[in-house]
Amino acid sequence: SPLHPFSATIMAWYAEHQRELPWRQTQDPYAIWLSEIILQQTRVAQGLPYFERLITAFPTVRDLAEAPEASLLRLWQGLGYYSRARNLQKAAQMVMRDFSGVFPQSYDEIIRLPGVGPYTAAAIASFAFDEAKAVVDGNVYRVLSRVFAVETDIASSAARGVFTSLAQSLIPMQDPATFNQAIMEFGALQCTPSPDCSDCPLRVSCAAFSEHRVAELPIKSKK
Ligand code: ADE
Repeated sequence: SPLHPFSATIMAWYAEHQRELPWRQTQDPYAIWLSEIILQQTRVAQGLPYFERLITAFPTVRDLAEAPEASLLRLWQGLGYYSRARNLQKAAQMVMRDFSGVFPQSYDEIIRLPGVGPYTAAAIASFAFDEAKAVVDGNVYRVLSRVFAVETDIASSAARGVFTSLAQSLIPMQDPATFNQAIMEFGALQCTPSPDCSDCPLRVSCAAFSEHRVAELPIKSKK
């Protein structure tokens, strides 16, 4: 099926502007999972050295499952949210016990691991296994709310479903992984909270730009 113009544009932008990041050079689900858990509450620049140290210390899911908890927590020091590290090891032990050490290969199985929500499961399923599941995080809310003038409050319980449906309608079956990396990277580098739209390839088709509402979207209530 033909690419949606939005999808074609952000994938072309990504081909030119992507950062070279270690977890983008692999389809190992374990490495991708580790990177996504680190990046959950952490900037890329801060998470990068932690990823390098952790993947070196624990190169396989078995190494992580069998590590003394104290050695994992020592390497996690400074990242905070230590429940992430504890869930990581619990999930690694679950992969060893319930999946014979083979990382689960579908979204529906991956999302059952502790510490893995819809965003992380979609990231692993698409990046490692080319499953066409759209990732939806804060970057994706920002990009889609602006380009398509979505007025749904991103703090509301309805938001995830609204934005997931829209993202899912845009994801190309031919290359869901690149689309997911591209929309997140576009949100991180181009469609930022306070963006410079003068060099944006979507400005001609962006509803928020043409309506002078870029600064108002996405809508986020206090709650
Ligand atoms: N933040 C969360 N996941 C990411 C990824 N795959 N690449 C860059 N930044 C991210």
